[in-house]
Amino acid sequence: MAANRPEGHTPSAPAWCAVDFPEVTAYSMIFSRGPDNAEVLAGLRAALTDSEDAPDHLERARVVNFTDDGDDAAQAAGAVETVFLAYWVNPQVWKRFCDSCDALRRAGVYCETALIPAERWETIAGTKRPLPGVRNLTSVKFTELHDYWGAARDRMAASEHDRFEATPGSPLPANLCLIRSGQKWDECLADERERYFADIEPKLRAGIDFLARNRDTGCICGRFLREQNLDGDDLESTSFVGWFEDLASLEAWSRSHSTHLAIFHTFLSTVQLLGRPPKLRLWHEVSVLPEGGVQLHQPALSPLAELVT
Ligand code: HEM
Repeated sequence: MAANRPEGHTPSAPAWCAVDFPEVTAYSMIFSRGPDNAEVLAGLRAALTDSEDAPDHLERARVVNFTDDGDDAAQAAGAVETVFLAYWVNPQVWKRFCDSCDALRRAGVYCETALIPAERWETIAGTKRPLPGVRNLTSVKFTELHDYWGAARDRMAASEHDRFEATPGSPLPANLCLIRSGQKWDECLADERERYFADIEPKLRAGIDFLARNRDTGCICGRFLREQNLDGDDLESTSFVGWFEDLASLEAWSRSHSTHLAIFHTFLSTVQLLGRPPKLRLWHEVSVLPEGGVQLHQPALSPLAELVT
């Protein structure tokens, strides 16, 4: 499971990854679009928290890619989107939830679900502290499989026997790749916070903007999320959620595109300038979906609709 690890490689910083994933995780992103959707959001939230078939882990965020805070034009155009990120350890419970949830069928609501076998997941974080995402369903362990290009693939158990090549499939191609890459600054002291927003965050936005506007990168759709509590109050964290045609496209951008390298190198030089371990919590989770592993509710509203055959 370390095919890409350079001989004798020792990571320059500690890192932790999730282990003991559910046999199949059902991970839904349930979007609600439109400026006047308070009632729809309340219905979704109630269903997601009160239902017998509620998810095992639930988060909320707003999509801020192109709208940013207070962009009236985008809001007027109905581009405002809220998303619930819901993780179930049992796909049958997820299915029951979807079949019985009326709020999922309201206007402007659509849902993208990944059904992820354990061996097609990988995560990485520079901390053991609490973080969003699938690691709320798993245990976490120290790993040395990081800090080299190709490490994400090495951490995915199925890479031992699968290259995850993009393959035509129905209704969606096989081996689509999904990343959630997070940044949490709530524990940063004032000087680190200042550096984050002056130096790193603008580069992160540039990278996300590049991916979201350049389909030839293999990025089908990229959303920048401002994370929130379930009441809709902003938290001090963001994440990027991106669908890619395959893992190779995601790897190519991260290892060689100037926008990710700029984020990466700025982070490393900021840590050096800081002169102490950063409190910024960075993490990501990546999955590669087998054929049939991506399901859409109201597909016409999803950017993934372009792939449906
Ligand atoms: C503040 C934002 C970000 C920072 C500071 C950052 C920094 C890093 C660092 C330091 C690594 C190496 C981690 C290790 O193996 O130890 C890495 C890997 C990676 N990053 Fe980022 N990154 C950021 C945002 C993103 C975003 C938005 C994406 C989404 C497309 C992304 C995709 C990846 C991928 C896929 C890898 C793994 C590459 C591999 O193992 O081959 N990163 N990043």
